[in-house]
Amino acid sequence: MTRAVLVSSSTAPAVTEIDVPDPGEGEALVDVAFSSVNYKDGLALAGDPGVARLDPLVPGIDVVGTVSALGPGVHDVRIGDRVVLNGAGAGETRHGGWAAHAVVPSASLVVLPEAIPEDFAAAIGTAGFTAALSVLALARFVEPSDGPVLVTGSSGGVGSVAIPLLAARGYRVTASTGRPANADALRMLGATDVVDRATLSERGKPMQKATWAGAVDSVGGATLANLLASTKWGGAVTACGLAQDVALPTTVLPFILRGVSLLGINSVDAPASLRRRAWALLAEELDPALLARVTRTVGLAEAIEIGPEVVAGRVHGRTIVDLSY
Ligand SMILES: NC(=O)c1ccc[n+]([C@@H]2O[C@H](COP(=O)([O-])OP(=O)(O)OC[C@H]3O[C@@H](n4cnc5c(N)ncnc54)[C@H](OP(=O)(O)O)[C@@H]3O)[C@@H](O)[C@H]2O)c1
Repeated sequence: MTRAVLVSSSTAPAVTEIDVPDPGEGEALVDVAFSSVNYKDGLALAGDPGVARLDPLVPGIDVVGTVSALGPGVHDVRIGDRVVLNGAGAGETRHGGWAAHAVVPSASLVVLPEAIPEDFAAAIGTAGFTAALSVLALARFVEPSDGPVLVTGSSGGVGSVAIPLLAARGYRVTASTGRPANADALRMLGATDVVDRATLSERGKPMQKATWAGAVDSVGGATLANLLASTKWGGAVTACGLAQDVALPTTVLPFILRGVSLLGINSVDAPASLRRRAWALLAEELDPALLARVTRTVGLAEAIEIGPEVVAGRVHGRTIVDLSY
């Protein structure tokens, strides 16, 4: 048996014991050292049917640990490899990382670069992996010399990693936040300026003053529409999230008058080659000490309590789940 959190439609989420699963065709068994608490994990804990597609479900869209058994036909990893899995259905359509053992699709595993300890990989997690995907996408269109870039949802997981990654590449980063008390922490991560998210969150004109060379957005809604409307000619905005709203009340004007590009980011189904590129970027360019400032560690029982706090936007930075607790 193995310790795990189970979410079901009939009982409240709880720490319990489940059978150690066997890996099937193309799957690997991972002895999980760490997972993390993402926005999506909070939704799974609340039984959101768009996330919790299995009943019962072990949440945890991140899995970090060591491969201990392989199913037939696995060539991507070997027993003993230190690995990370972000998304790929974990904690949604299949059991995830909030368990001491997890069976995962081996093709989506990334063997951890040596420079990355397991707890740092969990601190990065899906949020940081998504930030890296966003930075890789933005860099195809925007150079640091093009002008300032804006990061929304700055106190959140994606924002907290996007800021130092962009700053390390030489971009001048403005952080947007609804929590002015976090301004100093955001500057320490690498933001040069901090703006109140209220200045961006109301529906504005379809075209606005050309201000940003680009942006990394994780909130959607009117904020994303305003970013598109205030991006300079040829700039780009990445969109990965909906913390403000799933709607996008925009017009075609930023696209046809300024050649602005809207770049969609999906971490769940990212192909293996892109996963490896994003993790190589994180290994090379993210300072562990910076992320450690906005990371805390909890056990499984506490993770259940923190999920709703993340969804409510009350958690700053990243929360690691340590499976040894
Ligand atoms: N596409 C993908 O593959 C992918 C992967 C990871 C995450 N996501 C999505 O990206 C979003 C952010 O994820 P995360 O892990 O960073 O979540 P998070 O840690 O909860 O951070 C979200 C941040 O958004 C800001 N925010 C919250 N409510 C808001 C509102 N009503 N209006 C404007 N800003 C608001 C808050 O930052 P401030 O307090 O600083 O304003 C909050 O900290 C979520 O929607 C998540 O589902 C998508």
